[in-house]
Amino acid sequence: MRGRFITIEGTEGVGKTTNIEYIKQWLDDHAISYVSTREPGGTPLAEEIRQVLLANREEKVCSKAELLMMFAGRAQHIDQVIEPQLAKGNWVLCDRFTDATYAYQGAGREMGDELIKSLETMVQGAMRPDLTLVLDVPVELGLERAGNRSEPDRFEREKTDFFNRVRQAYLSMATNNPQRYKIIDASQSLEHVQLQIEAALTSFLQKDHNG
Ligand code: TMP
Repeated sequence: MRGRFITIEGTEGVGKTTNIEYIKQWLDDHAISYVSTREPGGTPLAEEIRQVLLANREEKVCSKAELLMMFAGRAQHIDQVIEPQLAKGNWVLCDRFTDATYAYQGAGREMGDELIKSLETMVQGAMRPDLTLVLDVPVELGLERAGNRSEPDRFEREKTDFFNRVRQAYLSMATNNPQRYKIIDASQSLEHVQLQIEAALTSFLQKDHNG
């Protein structure tokens, strides 16, 4: 049987890393074989593209160039990792995927959805995640949490307005398609966040078993 494709999304400082560790533990506990990966990145070539995308540089990066690099890395990642693993029956847990493009390039950079939709179709065909967890916190709180980390990359240097657009885009995608998305209130204590994630995963597994 084909594996399931789970993606984790959210703005800066929502706690993706910690919660991905929790999800990995949950998958292990349920004896589900999986690979954990990320975007941009996930293969040696796509990780090189990630470095190009995140690097701070004097030259202004044009939005279309940024968008195409996101999808270039994604095409490679799907071809080398995601598709082969799903075909083998392994689950794929991915830290960000195309929803991040709708949120960051579509809404954050104000590029709109049309171009992204056509690239999505070109690169993915009909392939979409089976479950997407959107970790949500108010932007100010997220930026405060993320602010304690290392030197900000090219995206982390963006302003609050940019991240507010990103957050709203995630919330509206999730609200419009509650079948696939679960919004996790990540402003709560870690214990409560993990209870919500566990509930989302359990309900997904149940629905999946019932076909
Ligand atoms: P990360 O820090 O969560 O690994 O993500 C790197 C940055 O890349 C993050 O600021 C979001 C951004 N990004 C996009 O702008 N578009 C995309 O399609 C993806 C996958 C990430």
